[in-house]
Amino acid sequence: MGKKILVTGGAGYIGSHTVVELQNAGFEVVVVDNLSNSNEEVLDGIYRITGKRPAFEKLDCRDKEAMRSVFTKYEGIEGIIHFAASKAVGESVKMPLLYYRNNLVSLLNLLDLMPEFGVKGIVFSSSCTVYGQPDVLPVDENAPIKPAVSPYGNTKQICEEIITDTIHAGAPFRAILLRYFNPIGAHPSAEIGELPQGVPQNLVPYLTQAAMGIRKELSVFGDDYNTPDGSCIRDYINVVDLAKAHVIAVNRMIENKSAEQVEVFNLGTGRGVSVLELIAAFERATGVPVPHKITGRREGDIEQVWANPEKANKVLGWTAQESLDDTLASAWKWQVKLHERGIM
Ligand code: NAD
Ligand code: WQD
Repeated sequence: MGKKILVTGGAGYIGSHTVVELQNAGFEVVVVDNLSNSNEEVLDGIYRITGKRPAFEKLDCRDKEAMRSVFTKYEGIEGIIHFAASKAVGESVKMPLLYYRNNLVSLLNLLDLMPEFGVKGIVFSSSCTVYGQPDVLPVDENAPIKPAVSPYGNTKQICEEIITDTIHAGAPFRAILLRYFNPIGAHPSAEIGELPQGVPQNLVPYLTQAAMGIRKELSVFGDDYNTPDGSCIRDYINVVDLAKAHVIAVNRMIENKSAEQVEVFNLGTGRGVSVLELIAAFERATGVPVPHKITGRREGDIEQVWANPEKANKVLGWTAQESLDDTLASAWKWQVKLHERGIM
């Protein structure tokens, strides 16, 4: 029997890819997901890739008693990877209480229950959004946290503080805060990927839908930024690379190898890519043209941000491996699969 890990939000985009990597590495996985932004069929995709179906409980992390029953039923959970959260930036501006309640209460319940069940540590999904527009690029983990521009971003900052304060107060567990840059792409098998709900707000799902003809054209939000080609720059990280970092992080925690009780890591490639460069890379990788036009800037956008991932490279022994072209090809393969299945 492998070590038992609870993955909240394990039916979601990053969660499902992480469940695959955990199972491939021999861990026993328990998924809790309320399917508010995912579908139980994701578990079939995980089964087709790994030959194993994770234990699954359709539950809401906000329900503390239900979560207690999970720890009781699956005795011996050693670590938690906590993905479950609401994540749409625009929606969070319109429905702040939903975001604060979902993202904060879910975490509070886990932190309350961990000592009761002897759980050794929690890996938390944070975001480069905590850096805002950094003063120095590439940005490392010591950069100042900037005031959040959305309730969503604020929940990530507050959750990081809640975890840190709880551990400083003597909680008997460890934590690793992983600050993701921009996760994109899908599993190379195209058995799992990002499930779009409605009109995509993120660049790559919108781009693949425009390339498929589902959307008329991709709007490039601004070409008058202070960047070489005028479009915004991000650090796009392959979702399978990202998933692999979670396996290393959770193992480090439960093996008591963390240098400190709370550790923070950037997960990015260290490579900044502009929107126009990304469109060109997609066309090069797939041979499929992307209808697009330049429009005005999107409110709240950061001009440019990319990671200094050296700490994760050295301390975790993890480096992003996949090329941008292969990653975009995987996003396209997934889009084609969704279309064939009549989903999108
Ligand atoms: P996702 O929406 O695909 O996955 C989240 C999963 O959590 C979904 O399956 C959803 O149904 C579930 N969920 C939400 N609230 C829940 C609750 N109360 N109880 C149980 N399940 C619940 O999102 P994702 O892109 O996989 O993101 C995973 C995590 O990573 C989130 O915490 C997100 O904020 C964070 N993150 C994502 C990105 C990104 O660009 N995708 C970047 C940085 C950080
Ligand atoms: C990327 C670039 C857009 C759509 C968001 C969240 C952040 C994090 C990741 C969770 C930007 C441009 C986009 C389009 C475009 N999530 N763009 N046309 O804004 O970096 O980050 O997701 O933590 O918190 O804010 O990602 O994919 O929305 O945009 O030109 O139709 O693509 O302006 O430069 P972003 P994104």
